[in-house]
Amino acid sequence: MFKIISKKNRAAEIICNLNKIDNKQLKQIKSTLDKYGMIYFPKQKLTSKNYLNFAKKFGKPANYPRLKGLNKKYPQITVVQRKSTDKGPSFGEQFHTDSSYTKKPPRYTMLLSKLVPKKGVANTDFSSQYLAYEKLSKNYKNKLKKLKGIYSSHGPISITTVEREKEKGKISKELISRHKIIRTIKNKKTIYCSPGHFLKFNTHMTKQKKELKKFLFNHQTKKTFQYSLEWEKDQLAIWDNRAMLHQATPFKGNRLLHRITIL
Ligand SMILES: [Fe+2]
Repeated sequence: MFKIISKKNRAAEIICNLNKIDNKQLKQIKSTLDKYGMIYFPKQKLTSKNYLNFAKKFGKPANYPRLKGLNKKYPQITVVQRKSTDKGPSFGEQFHTDSSYTKKPPRYTMLLSKLVPKKGVANTDFSSQYLAYEKLSKNYKNKLKKLKGIYSSHGPISITTVEREKEKGKISKELISRHKIIRTIKNKKTIYCSPGHFLKFNTHMTKQKKELKKFLFNHQTKKTFQYSLEWEKDQLAIWDNRAMLHQATPFKGNRLLHRITIL
């Protein structure tokens, strides 16, 4: 069984068994990912070994020092966990792209769910920046084309983490990087701007630039570009981190995800 189901053109569900895909199917998976920016596979019984092997078909798994590795054997698989007793926002609760504050952010991010609350309760929202670019007026395309964004690991999304670190008296080193706002991925233009880490444009932040930033954030996260992924156990999602914004939605309960980022 191998079936691709488009989700309003903003994502695709793929029905298959990732333990048994052939080269032709892998090609189809990759082209579907390029087309939609985010794809997901329900009902996958993957060992850590097979999960990592599948990830390697897309590139080199990155080391992510900010999260704990699964174990010594699989340091590239990091654990994203929320317990029902946890207070405050979840990890990643604002639209962002992963690690935009590094020189070379990962091209892809993968999550495999191990434990989730009831379906539809703890979603991850995605916003297609391919669609967001398409819908920009010519005037805005031209304005944004000339700009770069400056991003910080201590940006707006990290406030709670930084506060917690301050209490412990151990603040991680701030990482800052800059990237073009408009970029091209395999001949397709996209907006690359991570509101969760954004500090400023690489130019004097005049009143007009502040307004442009406000317009951009608002435009990037319009509902018409979004797809809300409902987690169920043993579901794998992969997205193009250069072309999709994503955010965790607030929830109460236990959730355990295994994450791999790919350079
Ligand atoms: Fe994230």
